[in-house]
Amino acid sequence: MPHKYHNFNTIIPEIESKIDALLAKMTLDEKVGQTVQVHINESNRKEMVEQLRNGQVGSVLTIYGVDNINAIQKVAVEETRLGIPVIIGNDVIHGYRTIFPIPLAESCTWDLDLIEESAHIAAEEATANGVHWTFAPMVDICRDPRWGRIAEGAGEDPYLGEVFGASRVRGFQRELSSGRKMVACPKHYVAYGGAEAGKDYNSVDMSERRLRDIYLPPFKAAFDAGAGTTMSAFNEINGIPASANRFTLQQILRNEWGFTGFVVSDWNSVGELIPHGVANGYKEAAQNAFLAGVDMDMVSGAYHRHLAELVSSGEIPETRLDEAVRQILRIKFMLDLFDNPYTDSINAEAAILKPEYLQTALEVTTKSMVLLKNQGDILPINTEEVKRIAIIGPLADDHHEILGTWHRIGRDEDTESVLDGIRELIPDDIEITHTQGCDLFGKRPTNTISAVTAAQKADLVIMVLGEAESMSGEAHSRAHLGLPGRQQFLLEAVHATGTPIVAVLMSGRPLVIPWMAENIPAILCAWHGGLRTGRAVADILFGDANPSGKLTASWPRTEGQIPIYYAHKNTGRPLGGVGGFQFQRYHFTEFIDEEVTPLFPFGFGLSYTSFEYSDLQVLTPKMSLDSTLKVRAEITNTGEIPGDEIVQLYVRDLVGEVTRPVKELKGFQKISLQPGESQMVEFEISVQRLGFHGLDMQYKVEPGEFKIWVGPNSAEGLEGDFRVE
Ligand code: BGC
Repeated sequence: MPHKYHNFNTIIPEIESKIDALLAKMTLDEKVGQTVQVHINESNRKEMVEQLRNGQVGSVLTIYGVDNINAIQKVAVEETRLGIPVIIGNDVIHGYRTIFPIPLAESCTWDLDLIEESAHIAAEEATANGVHWTFAPMVDICRDPRWGRIAEGAGEDPYLGEVFGASRVRGFQRELSSGRKMVACPKHYVAYGGAEAGKDYNSVDMSERRLRDIYLPPFKAAFDAGAGTTMSAFNEINGIPASANRFTLQQILRNEWGFTGFVVSDWNSVGELIPHGVANGYKEAAQNAFLAGVDMDMVSGAYHRHLAELVSSGEIPETRLDEAVRQILRIKFMLDLFDNPYTDSINAEAAILKPEYLQTALEVTTKSMVLLKNQGDILPINTEEVKRIAIIGPLADDHHEILGTWHRIGRDEDTESVLDGIRELIPDDIEITHTQGCDLFGKRPTNTISAVTAAQKADLVIMVLGEAESMSGEAHSRAHLGLPGRQQFLLEAVHATGTPIVAVLMSGRPLVIPWMAENIPAILCAWHGGLRTGRAVADILFGDANPSGKLTASWPRTEGQIPIYYAHKNTGRPLGGVGGFQFQRYHFTEFIDEEVTPLFPFGFGLSYTSFEYSDLQVLTPKMSLDSTLKVRAEITNTGEIPGDEIVQLYVRDLVGEVTRPVKELKGFQKISLQPGESQMVEFEISVQRLGFHGLDMQYKVEPGEFKIWVGPNSAEGLEGDFRVE
């Protein structure tokens, strides 16, 4: 049965009539109340509930527990004059109680159905527990792994940002078994991921073309998938904070895209217009943000305190207030909150951690892991030969960090550590020792001696290393992207024993690991993989699962290469020269002291089997602007076990009226092949998808020559060409 999806970015005439009737009854204060979102905690509870009772709250965020939420809803529905329900928002980022891998990891599955499914499970659990609205997906493009919030998105590529963002919206907004509904909030609108130097909240200054070609498309795709809200970001864009930016909030979002949902500010981003230096107090901040198009104020209190006064004085037209309230009520009606404001507490517990959810989580986690190196096929571990294994490292028996940033109500006791996973899986005749070796971070002395002794007595070492969950996510940018604390020291000491090492690397971002990449024969990037991390790692290490994940963000060799991304421009002095003319050494776009290529490129990931690409056929070598590019290539599993391969298609527009990237991902397919099996993989891509914003800033596809690659990652592939006429 095909799934049914709710579309919240639409107009339904019967709902508009209901809104008309309600708006006609509302006082100025009650209208303002709808635009106010509050956070209720122990210290402000009394005051907030009173404010709610007076009809001065439209939404409450980050509260948990059905009884707690129902109690708040009861005040809104039964004790306010008009009984308008509140909408409850929460950060359901990568699972509610069943914690999935961080979104960056999830994106490495390149599996749209799975990504949708994990969002859907999160929605099932969260709505059964009173949540109506998730502040997700984060669809910010990020090309700077210093930025801690790279963990929350789908990496560096706008095309992946579009398709993964839309899948997550569909997952959240898919019909739920309970009949309830959830609305998604693609965030942070917009360009938040472009923060200078990867410092969170930092300024963003970029051309309108880059904004339109790279940063906006994932939002557009999320709204086209039916997302009914968005969140205005903290950052400024070209001198104007995103939460007071008429160009992005009005011109693009409303005028060009026709978005009919509502915009909520980020946490206090209305108040932050004051330190940004574009408002000289809360009143002016409220005026700037509201007139720009921020419909709901998350916690700053600026709307609550000043909006009524600004409307009464005529500084804000009442029509603008009516428009914002209409947009908010529209979503509340679409969520059926007026007819069905309460959540039945009987279902709350039963809805979480269902066995089938844990099974899906295991699948997502396994498929999100990326095998970065496997020299001499040391993996999967051969239990015929390897009888003594030393498991070393601060994350080997971890039950917390694996949950990743924004795990919220996820619990350590729901997780399985790598040590648990391995113990559960391996045959009895294998001897396991476990040594932590050192702390995760900090400079406390290591227990190197016991780690080294364990390694000396073992046939193989598994080292589980990486970042704490608190090292990525909001306000957790890093300037140094190596192993934290004394982990590198520990790794080198264990390496010196000569016992072969398999490194399992956990992180919320691409790390800088040149020494490891050079010296350690096998590296599995396991990210912060959620509650099934342990089992997934064990399955991969011992060959019960064949790794298939591929990177969605480039891994730099050194921090000095950042920002680093595959879809860069060619420049006038590209590496390797132009048109047969070789520049003198040092006159390329390069570094004198480091390679320009990444350590691991976008799209890269190994398997325990091997795939051969052959017979690229461009079936449409000449095309008109309204036709479809048809390409195929044969992929063969040339190894000995079944495996999944993510086949990627890239294009390059060779000459344009503005410069174009050297490669752009335009399609991919994930296929499963038995050993020896071949498949002709066919791509059909509308020529209209090959465009960009031209000199006049309009989207266009230009006639001319294109190159095309079908390959296993952004750095390799069969090459062909075609022409658009
Ligand atoms: C974050 C948002 C989040 C909001 C509500 C902010 O600090 O930037 O991503 O949705 O808090 O928790």
